[in-house]
Amino acid sequence: MAISRARSRAARLLPLLLLILLAPLIYSVSRLRLSWAPEQGLNLSHPAATKRPDGLVLGPAAGQGRPDRLQCQGLKAVNKISLASERKDSGEPVSFVTVFTTYNSHPAGAGKVPSDAVTVGKHSYSKEERSMAILNTFVSFIQVSMPTSKVIILTDPKSKLAIHQGRATILPIEGNYSRGNLMLQRIKSYIAFLELKLVEVDQVNSFSNYIFTDSDMAVVDDLGHIFKRYPHCHLALTFRNNKGQPLNSGFVAVRGTSDGISKAIGFFRKVLEAYNVKYMKASRMLGDQLALAWVVKSYLPSAFGKISRPEIFTEEVNGASVLFLPCAVYNWTPPEGAGQFHGMPLDVKVVHFKGSRKRLMLEAWDFYNSTSQLSDMLCLILKSGRTKYDF
Ligand SMILES: *[C@@H]1O[C@H](CO)[C@@H](O)[C@H](O)[C@H]1NC(C)=O
Ligand SMILES: *[C@@H]1O[C@H](CO)[C@@H](O)[C@H](O)[C@H]1NC(C)=O
Ligand SMILES: *[C@@H]1O[C@H](CO)[C@@H](O)[C@H](O)[C@H]1NC(C)=O
Repeated sequence: MAISRARSRAARLLPLLLLILLAPLIYSVSRLRLSWAPEQGLNLSHPAATKRPDGLVLGPAAGQGRPDRLQCQGLKAVNKISLASERKDSGEPVSFVTVFTTYNSHPAGAGKVPSDAVTVGKHSYSKEERSMAILNTFVSFIQVSMPTSKVIILTDPKSKLAIHQGRATILPIEGNYSRGNLMLQRIKSYIAFLELKLVEVDQVNSFSNYIFTDSDMAVVDDLGHIFKRYPHCHLALTFRNNKGQPLNSGFVAVRGTSDGISKAIGFFRKVLEAYNVKYMKASRMLGDQLALAWVVKSYLPSAFGKISRPEIFTEEVNGASVLFLPCAVYNWTPPEGAGQFHGMPLDVKVVHFKGSRKRLMLEAWDFYNSTSQLSDMLCLILKSGRTKYDF
């Protein structure tokens, strides 16, 4: 009797015991899922049932009272002068390079309004038009902040891009741009592009440095100074204080000298190799980012000790001199979910509309377009950047 009672008690305790033992595992798996799908965010309650806002949502502006952060009164920036009019051109020529392709969505019946259409300001966009609008907005911001810069779009020879004439150069590069292969293809396209430039560098009179970026970014200040101020760096990467993903692959700057280009090709080849060997399963989303961090870590085991402070540093990686730039300034995204948030640094130069912030990118451009105030637009982004929008 006593034994069976003890047994049944043990049986009742077993699930609890298992839960306690497995809790760390469950926790780490759920963290893994989060870090693999950052777009999904931290609010996991009924992700499918939750309707995300289809218009701007303004919250409080973080970082108020801190002198090194943007201070806003309503949507008025009070401690930051208008960027565009005060811009000091560094004189270093820069071309932006982005990989972009379109996917044919299901052809809607003739004249039918696509059910996935969204409205931003006065415009309505289908899914495909939306991604074109983001690309066009990416170009528009560069034209405002760095008007002498070129934009080069590397794309699938099969894709048809509706880029406004004269705004950007489209350069088709053969490859497999299918969704599942895109991040891998992106590195291959970067390498192919750099190989073309390496051949040209001694033949062509014009010189340019290159910044490879995602297209969901707004450049809001001059970036040519990177090449001027750090004349010995071959390439530059952006880092953040995040152990799992210390580097963001959305921004890589390359000096346009033959030395810089060769070093960058060597670096991207290493990243490609690490990707193929170690991160193929992650290829849809973050493989390139993980591979990038792996390569840097394997040459510089100590580099990531420095990332807890947002200060620029330089290190040798496989013979290349790499400048590490803080994401807080060169690749700024408001933290998702409940992370600490100290506001927007006054010297922010690039805003990255990661995940479900694409609407905000278009809304921000609309706002700038009607006010001509980049600083005020940054207040709008600061106040609404933590919201996850409908696209
Ligand atoms: C998750 O999102 C829903 C809808 O936006 C909201 O009502 C709910 O409070 C959120 N939950 C948490 C824990 O933030
Ligand atoms: C392109 O890549 C995808 C995903 O890896 C793969 O399924 C597909 O077979 C590839 N297509 C070609 C033509 O190689
Ligand atoms: C706003 O957009 C219109 C039409 O595209 C353009 O003519 C105008 O110059 C833009 N204004 C600013 C401040 O960019």
